[in-house]
Amino acid sequence: MKTVNIAIDGPAGAGKSTIAKMVSAEMGYIYVDTGAMYRAVALYLTENNIPDEDIEKYIGDVDVSLKFIDGVQRVYLGDRDVSELIRTPEISMAASRTSAIPAVRARLFDLQQKLARENNIIMDGRDIGTVVLPNADVKIFLTASAEERANRRYKELSEKPDCPPYEEILKDIIQRDYNDMNRETAPLKQAEDAVLVDTTELTLEQSAARITEIIKERI
Ligand code: DC
Repeated sequence: MKTVNIAIDGPAGAGKSTIAKMVSAEMGYIYVDTGAMYRAVALYLTENNIPDEDIEKYIGDVDVSLKFIDGVQRVYLGDRDVSELIRTPEISMAASRTSAIPAVRARLFDLQQKLARENNIIMDGRDIGTVVLPNADVKIFLTASAEERANRRYKELSEKPDCPPYEEILKDIIQRDYNDMNRETAPLKQAEDAVLVDTTELTLEQSAARITEIIKERI
């Protein structure tokens, strides 16, 4: 049976994962966060002190898998649940760097395509509509201004100890945008047939409603 595949791409901090979770709950689809896979690979490489030039040699040893518990994605390295460990700023930056390496992308590509073949999914990332699922039923490119994305991240972090200053968060976002858009392999860009949704002026609920509407119109 053909599965329904929805691709959501966009820069860091545009709200992709929160919005995709809301929409997939509404539609009864599985939500696949591909950024978590790149983060898990980055965690493995960091923990094992593998320098970038040796990644190709060791990438075959990285055992990333996803489990869905009550519809919520958990990411594993071997049999270790690393879903929380991958959320540090250090791993964000490491993932942004190591995801540019073709051997890393090749490793995760098959896993992502298999998930899409076997399930009705909403998959978010950077290259889902352009490279991983070029035939997706619906493609969305979700974005917001860098300042607004930094603002949202700052609000989220300001409740925690050690919140970095706003300027540092903005600098990180701009750096990650640059890395994601300028790498040679599978750079972040809007697919020609993707619908652009700019959430700078929208609440999460408004963004989710807009995307649900786009999906329902097309499938
Ligand atoms: O969405 P995120 O911030 O969790 O993603 C972490 C990093 O992984 C991000 O800097 C870019 C990379 N990534 C990618 O290259 N391709 C994807 N499909 C998803 C994420």
